[in-house]
Amino acid sequence: MMKILHVCCSSRGQFSESCRISRKIIELLRAKEPSSVLTNRVIGGGAIAHIDASYASALGATESSFAEAFPMGSMSRSEELIQELERSDYVVIGTPMHNFTVPSALKAWIDHVVRVRRTFDSTTEGYVGRLRDRPVFVAVSSGGRYSGERARQPDFLTPYLRAILGVIGLNDLTVFSIEGTALGRDAVVEARIKTDQALEEYFRHLPVRPHCSGDVFP
Ligand SMILES: Cc1cc2nc3c(=O)[nH]c(=O)nc-3n(C[C@H](O)[C@H](O)[C@H](O)COP(=O)(O)O)c2cc1C
Repeated sequence: MMKILHVCCSSRGQFSESCRISRKIIELLRAKEPSSVLTNRVIGGGAIAHIDASYASALGATESSFAEAFPMGSMSRSEELIQELERSDYVVIGTPMHNFTVPSALKAWIDHVVRVRRTFDSTTEGYVGRLRDRPVFVAVSSGGRYSGERARQPDFLTPYLRAILGVIGLNDLTVFSIEGTALGRDAVVEARIKTDQALEEYFRHLPVRPHCSGDVFP
């Protein structure tokens, strides 16, 4: 049975544009694979605390520590979030752009799931991810435009997400965006139509995934 993890990063709840798109992505995925199970992980609005001192010390150390052997506090929360990620076949992240990059809520989630000796190893060759690769869909909402000819600001969000998720082994990222939500009603309507068309077009051609986490690989 296919498992979808939905990570919703906006603090605006049901009014969130990014979560509207991520929910649409989930709808389209489920239309392809109706037997899927959904896990909703809401991280916006301070739902995930910043990391604590013990976690920061453990990750800064060269060797495994007591905190990793007997997880409590942020280490325990990290374990919970990582296991949720490991169980998923698809990850769908809905996130606003804040100050040219990911919002602090998403950064807090990343700080919990990108963990040395657990989701990646640091070797002389560089970082080696430990997670099985799987499709990750990212829905970005931004007040202004950050891509295309009409962009008026830099984008530190999408290259950052690609780089950091790549560290833990998640390299299969597909990004959809709704840009210009602060540019007036007409711009929002135009952006919604454009995004919805891009989604429909993409999912029309997406093949049903041959293997899910419950499958046995040879
Ligand atoms: C703290 C903060 C910082 C923001 N920074 C940016 C930014 O750098 N660029 C941009 O285009 N929009 C920025 N915005 C606007 C949001 O990206 C925009 O309102 C977005 O549609 C919100 O998505 P949501 O509806 O999913 O919360 C910012 C909003 C907030 C609250």
